[in-house]
Amino acid sequence: MSPSLTVSRIGAQQGSVLRELRTASLREAPYAFGETLEDALLVDPASFDDTATLHANSPRLATFLLYTEGHPAGLVHAYIEEADGARAFVSALWVAPAVRHLRGGELLVNFASQWLAEQGASQVHAWIADENRNAMRFYERLGFGPTGDRRAMPSHEQEAESLYVRHMQPDRDV
Ligand SMILES: CC(C)(COP(=O)(O)OP(=O)(O)OC[C@H]1O[C@@H](n2cnc3c(N)ncnc32)[C@H](O)[C@@H]1OP(=O)(O)O)[C@@H](O)C(=O)NCCC(=O)NCCS
Repeated sequence: MSPSLTVSRIGAQQGSVLRELRTASLREAPYAFGETLEDALLVDPASFDDTATLHANSPRLATFLLYTEGHPAGLVHAYIEEADGARAFVSALWVAPAVRHLRGGELLVNFASQWLAEQGASQVHAWIADENRNAMRFYERLGFGPTGDRRAMPSHEQEAESLYVRHMQPDRDV
């Protein structure tokens, strides 16, 4: 039987869960992210507590956690840029290998997108590493398409990433 998967917004006290999931994702899928495991391990663990508090309460930044049978098994960040245009993004998406292909990734992205839409976003963006073909297929299946924008990946300057976007439909459940 498939495990049940649920998603909820991070709680202010969940800094250690955030650190655990983020370091696990950087260890397991370093090609996917613009930060390295070394970067994350250099950060004072207490700062994850500050991030969790912010992401639990901010109208501009949030983290959503995936649970399987009550155990944390994935995450996604959602944020709205402060720059002109206030574009909305999902980032840092990761699902633990043991529970992949069970629609946990879809649940996370849809939860985050719904929250961004509630904050006023009509489009949701995601940067995807060009070499991460699985993630491209995953996002395309959810209705994201390439904008044509590309840039060097932060922390992996020799690699490029492409900007994808999904247009939210106000009257449709995501
Ligand atoms: C991308 C990721 C979040 C998908 O999580 P998931 O829970 O397996 O996603 P879902 O079950 O909702 O959807 C899976 C679908 O995405 C696509 N997909 C994901 N991984 C795939 C793979 N290895 N090969 C082919 N298609 C893949 C397929 O369409 C797949 O459908 P299927 O399961 O019916 O074959 C997960 O593979 C992951 O954490 N990867 C490493 C980190 C990463 O790449 N993050 C994205 C950064 S932009």
